[in-house]
Amino acid sequence: MATDQAYCAALLAIVLLGMFTLYGALKNLSPYGRLRPSHKASQTQGRELTLPSSVAWLLFESPQLFAFALTFWLLADGHAVPALVLFALWQAHYLYRGLIYPLRRRDRGKRFPLLNVIFGFLFNLLNGYANGYAVSHAAHLTGNDWFATPWFIIGLLVAGVGWWINFDADNRLIALRSDGSTGYRIPQGGLFRQVSAANYFGEILLWSGWALMSLSWAGLVFVLFTLANLVPRAWASHQWYRAQFAAYPAERKVLIPYLW
Ligand SMILES: NC(=O)c1ccc[n+]([C@@H]2O[C@H](COP(=O)([O-])OP(=O)(O)OC[C@H]3O[C@@H](n4cnc5c(N)ncnc54)[C@H](OP(=O)(O)O)[C@@H]3O)[C@@H](O)[C@H]2O)c1
Repeated sequence: MATDQAYCAALLAIVLLGMFTLYGALKNLSPYGRLRPSHKASQTQGRELTLPSSVAWLLFESPQLFAFALTFWLLADGHAVPALVLFALWQAHYLYRGLIYPLRRRDRGKRFPLLNVIFGFLFNLLNGYANGYAVSHAAHLTGNDWFATPWFIIGLLVAGVGWWINFDADNRLIALRSDGSTGYRIPQGGLFRQVSAANYFGEILLWSGWALMSLSWAGLVFVLFTLANLVPRAWASHQWYRAQFAAYPAERKVLIPYLW
């Protein structure tokens, strides 16, 4: 198969996985973390196969690093500066998300469904490949004048703000267990003052910025997948917090500050 046909096939597969993800998320088919029923949260035996949470995260995030890198370096003849900058930004994010963040999460004893690991690995493999291909083959990313376009400038700003919100929110969640506890508390500070799913809001901004910066179908499809995955989970988490904590701030929105 020609490489551009493989790219289109990967995009189509990601769209189908996104539709399946949306369905699964709305039906809460294979919940993890706080949405996982408490009797299953630390279960090591039983009918559902699971992995330790940090191992699961290390495993299923890894293709975003290697699939993107292999595609970028092996399938393209040359690389202009804009493509190299996007390569560096992607790899820097996934070095953190794929290798450092899973080890920082305070989720010892927690289990993650094996089905989600397999699904996440497959999606990340396709997504790493599609984005690596898009960035290394796009004609508009071959000239340095790309850095002066509104696409790149606005995209970089949106992605930078999103990355910071996401990083800050993840750190606040990690800090909630600094005393060694394993349970749940009401997140405080940062964008959690406004919304229950501050980390997901940052994530959605980050990949929206990436889609603008790269101006690619792969970037757009990744944002759509992220929305399909995280919007229903944000809603379910918000309901979970309200049911769990009588003192949960009534003014806190679900995902989008001041709006929803
Ligand atoms: N692009 C995408 O499609 C995508 C998909 C999924 C995740 N992500 C990103 O990956 C990161 C992690 O996602 P996630 O779904 O695991 O986020 P999460 O459900 O909010 O959990 C993040 C970590 O914080 C802990 N935690 C959450 N709420 C807590 C609370 N109220 N009190 C104490 N600890 C709490 C969790 O522990 P437990 O494990 O014990 O619940 C987990 O270790 C986020 O930055 C997210 O944006 C991206």
